[in-house]
Amino acid sequence: MYISKIYIRDFRNISQLEYFPDKGLNILIGTNAQGKTNFLEAIYLVTNRTSFRSVQDRHLVKFNEEGFQIQIDYNLDDKNNSLKIEYLIGKRKKITLNNKRILPDQDRLKATLFTPDDLYLLKGPPVRRRSFLDSLLIQISNDYKRNLDDYEQLLSRRNNLLKADSLDMAMLEALDHIFAATAAHIIMARLNILRHLEKYAVNSYQTIGGDDTLRLKYAVSFPLPAGKISYETVKEELLLNTISLRSRECRMKNTLVGPHRDDINFYINEKNAKIFASQGQQRNIVIALKLAELETIHRTTGVYPLFLLDEVLAELDSQKRDLIIGVLQESSFQTFLTSVEISLFRDINGKIIRLDNGKLIL
Ligand SMILES: Nc1ncnc2c1ncn2[C@@H]1O[C@H](COP(=O)(O)OP(=O)(O)OP(=O)(O)O)[C@@H](O)[C@H]1O
Ligand SMILES: [Mg+2]
Repeated sequence: MYISKIYIRDFRNISQLEYFPDKGLNILIGTNAQGKTNFLEAIYLVTNRTSFRSVQDRHLVKFNEEGFQIQIDYNLDDKNNSLKIEYLIGKRKKITLNNKRILPDQDRLKATLFTPDDLYLLKGPPVRRRSFLDSLLIQISNDYKRNLDDYEQLLSRRNNLLKADSLDMAMLEALDHIFAATAAHIIMARLNILRHLEKYAVNSYQTIGGDDTLRLKYAVSFPLPAGKISYETVKEELLLNTISLRSRECRMKNTLVGPHRDDINFYINEKNAKIFASQGQQRNIVIALKLAELETIHRTTGVYPLFLLDEVLAELDSQKRDLIIGVLQESSFQTFLTSVEISLFRDINGKIIRLDNGKLIL
């Protein structure tokens, strides 16, 4: 998939902007606060229908204006489409695909985003890593979304039972079977996707200059036997663990095992990257993971997402920067990358644009 035209009006600090992107690499240059992240945010908003910065829609409207409009013309499966999002303060967003009104969750386009905040994928709490896997799985499987919704409901019912003044043991035991059955679906899907992600991430990590070996491991919150793991094994082991933890869970009034307690561990040369990796190594791991996400989506859906990269090259040495730029130039997907430094991009196979106070300078 690629965007052939972008039109933005009264969005953040952008009054009016029209851009015909390159099918491959697009580089947005500008000093601080000129609108580079805003530009990426506009693309993300039209593809995902929400911003990646947690703000209300009205904050996205240019100061002193009444609403914004973003339109992209894009090519998907050799068909040209036009997607428009219009917003007026106080009203709901209006989304149209080829001039026909659609709902916010219809016809979403896939975009993989890197922001400096994503470094917390590695350094932050486990919930970040679980959400990363969940949002990837939701993009490629409808079953996963259903199982996850069911699991969240079951978990909250289970926790409510544990929190009640008098414990309904029969109810808890009955719930545990369906709880373990649903949990096992989630764990199996995550184990499976992580195997794919690891394969592509290890590859990408080396391509972008990682000399060390990267390894990813899905850390289940209860012990599983070594060797090949089946759905049945996960379900039974989880159930056994829940039973053996019964009195502790009753004391703590909380569900102590299950996919909501799982994590992903990253290892560099078999050492935990969260503790031992350098800044540059951490950044490279996250970039490799994003490239792996892109490849996983492509292999499972047949479509490459857009790749939106905000300040991805900061902190990296010049050799690593060049290697990443090389990968992006040669790729089959479309990239929008922001940077404050134009000197990094000489003889680029792609387009370079400059943003100055929300205005585009070609
Ligand atoms: N709703 C809005 N209306 C007008 N201007 C806004 C709005 N929201 C943010 N801005 C302005 O947009 C500018 C920031 O834009 P943006 O975050 O895209 O900068 P940037 O080019 O990515 O800079 P940096 O290199 O520092 O990340 C700020 O000057 C901010 O005041
Ligand atoms: Mg920015």
